[in-house]
Amino acid sequence: MKQIFNFSAGPAVLPKPVLERAQAEMLDWHGSGMSVMEMSHRGKEFTSILEKTEADLRKLMDIPSNYKVLFLQGGAIAENAMIPLNLLNGSEADYVVTGSWSKRSVDDANAYGKINVVASGEADKYTYVPDYSSWKLNKNAAYVHICTNETINGVEFDGLPDTGGVPIVADMSSHILSRPVDVSQYGVIYGGAQKNIGPAGLCIVIVRDDLLNRASKLTPAVFNWKVQAENQSMINTPPTYSIYIAGLVFEWLLAQGGVAAIEQKNIAKATLLYDYIDSTEFYSNNIALSNRSRMNIPFFLRDESLNDVFLKGAAENGLLQLKGHRMVGGMRASIYNAMAIDGVRALVSYMKDFESKH
Ligand SMILES: Cc1ncc(COP(=O)(O)O)c(C=O)c1O
Repeated sequence: MKQIFNFSAGPAVLPKPVLERAQAEMLDWHGSGMSVMEMSHRGKEFTSILEKTEADLRKLMDIPSNYKVLFLQGGAIAENAMIPLNLLNGSEADYVVTGSWSKRSVDDANAYGKINVVASGEADKYTYVPDYSSWKLNKNAAYVHICTNETINGVEFDGLPDTGGVPIVADMSSHILSRPVDVSQYGVIYGGAQKNIGPAGLCIVIVRDDLLNRASKLTPAVFNWKVQAENQSMINTPPTYSIYIAGLVFEWLLAQGGVAAIEQKNIAKATLLYDYIDSTEFYSNNIALSNRSRMNIPFFLRDESLNDVFLKGAAENGLLQLKGHRMVGGMRASIYNAMAIDGVRALVSYMKDFESKH
């Protein structure tokens, strides 16, 4: 098989040892004679997979015991609606808009109550996180919603604001497990799996247990966090195979030394790419230095008429899925946990070569 590097924003590259193990276990999981896809979700085999997956995630993120971990379906976008349904309860909520995904969260939440946009980077094309002191937070808000890494715009939070005790609800879809976070600073953390966790179809929700009693009566049972917490995320059939692969990814991550160790690798990869972009006029990235994402790095060619030639040459060199999101244009390299530094080296080497030829 030819060597490629996949820079897709999601679904994204998975660790090769995980795919190899899934391949080896495909037809017969641990002597059960069954594939994980064929198992009853309530049987002892799958129950053991689910319990280990949760335990490993708790270990990786050091999740305190007063937080529930839910394995839900519908992706992060379903949660955009479920967050107000589970938390708003006739009250209002504050939202900070730092890019296309948090804007989408506002649009999705608007149907369910009073949503206040308390800070926005839209006027400056989402190139930074608005200074925390400028946020017009409401002390009576049920929660403050943020997206801590904007996959499309390449904007990542650097620290957290003081919300005066109002719970923070964070969409971490595209950088969960890429750096240590103090879970106790959040009310809810959620993320679609298809970047740093596993296959699409699974959304992880980590929720502080005092927030489980606020759901509107309209909340569907499958999306009611309290009901799901009481039923081990099994009020319906969970996405069993996605959970199994997530479990393998968590084992892989633990074997890498955990989140603190992978963070060092992520810093090294991102630094390599940003340093090169900053060293030349040929390419640019326009995100404020302290908010540059380590996971999703958009960049532009000075001469945008070369975009197609750049992408064609990249693909010929095994560097795939570098086209920027249609809302931003240019290029975007997503370099999640499973992207080896060799992939970033190969990209930088291609970019240098392309620059010298054009
Ligand atoms: C930050 C962020 N939030 C939400 C989503 C939407 O996730 P899903 O398509 O799983 O619903 C994405 C998808 O790429 C994302 O990057």
